[in-house]
Amino acid sequence: MPTVKAEGYNVIVDKGWEDLHKFILKQKASKIFVIVDENTEEHCLPVIRPHLPDPYKILKVRSGETFKNIDTATYLWQQLVKHEADRSSLVLNLGGGVIGDMGGFVASTYMRGIPFIQIPTTLLSQVDASVGGKLGVDFMGYKNIIGMFKNPIMVWVHSPFIKTLPEKELASGFAEVIKHTLIRSKSWWEKIKSKGLNQTPEEWSKLIYESIKIKNKVVLEDPYEQGLRKILNFGHTIGHAIESYFLNSKTPLLHGEAIAKGMIAEAYLSFKNNKLTIIELEEINSLIETIYTIPTIENDMIDDIIRLMKMDKKNKAGKKLFSLIEGIGNCSFDEEVTDERIKESLKF
Ligand SMILES: NC(=O)c1ccc[n+]([C@@H]2O[C@H](COP(=O)([O-])OP(=O)(O)OC[C@H]3O[C@@H](n4cnc5c(N)ncnc54)[C@H](O)[C@@H]3O)[C@@H](O)[C@H]2O)c1
Ligand SMILES: [Zn+2]
Repeated sequence: MPTVKAEGYNVIVDKGWEDLHKFILKQKASKIFVIVDENTEEHCLPVIRPHLPDPYKILKVRSGETFKNIDTATYLWQQLVKHEADRSSLVLNLGGGVIGDMGGFVASTYMRGIPFIQIPTTLLSQVDASVGGKLGVDFMGYKNIIGMFKNPIMVWVHSPFIKTLPEKELASGFAEVIKHTLIRSKSWWEKIKSKGLNQTPEEWSKLIYESIKIKNKVVLEDPYEQGLRKILNFGHTIGHAIESYFLNSKTPLLHGEAIAKGMIAEAYLSFKNNKLTIIELEEINSLIETIYTIPTIENDMIDDIIRLMKMDKKNKAGKKLFSLIEGIGNCSFDEEVTDERIKESLKF
């Protein structure tokens, strides 16, 4: 695929491994560190190993959002010190969004910042976390509350990595693909709405590439979320509140599962604001319902979910602001919606 030019770095999708090898060599790194978790060590490291210039040091952390914290970051900083990493050392983050965000954060703070390459291995991290420069860890129960914006020197996307993902993780990442098409690409929506997760490897490759291009274009136009970038929040205002609601339940949802549900509710809001036809609303609903098995929002949950939305970073002066789709392929932002309407959308 042609290179995607991001802010100061390139995103390379499905190119020959020798390009990665050459790029790493060109950095003339004093030392190379590869951060993995037990899953990417098993499934992804063997694929990439033959293409890494020797020597390099593997730093392994435990998988999962629970370990995306300061303690794991401290462990990684300690390892860098112990192995005498210096300013010209290089970090490769081989993993999903957790490793990308945390490994990038560790690299960007070590000695005031050493270069890192993102090698995203989940669908979610390939289409979403790999672009936009957001790094960080969770702290005191808040997601990503400690962190910064800092770009990698390159993002290397190898779409076949997603083959070994559990189906639930694949579906979770697919929610961001659905979002990208809904806000920016009517033609890709036509392609995904019937096939869902049943894409061939070639189709995945193209879909991931398109999805990255959409996100990158939006981010380039508005790197610090002053305006346009808010459209990437479609499905997330309600989705995040649903995610938080289920966080401490017996059935926590993956991010994409919550966002899928949020997209149904926010598509309903778009419909009610005369921005979406009933047919489009039904199409969105039907694709999401076939992919995800998500618990029903019962009436007694609704007030709690609305309360959780008060914490949303995008609210302004107590008003709840939404990004709403204006027909599939277009999206507006800063649309005010009343609590009554939000309630209706959750019931829907
Ligand atoms: N920086 C951003 O812009 C951005 C955007 C979206 C999400 N995020 C962050 O990303 C994180 C979620 O990312 P995620 O969904 O990739 O989760 P994750 O990194 O926890 O990966 C999900 C699971 O898949 C495993 N895994 C990874 N690659 C695999 C592979 N190829 N085969 C088999 N198993 C594999 C992981 O070990 C983990 O168990 C969250 O912390 C979120 O805050 C960041
Ligand atoms: Zn998301």
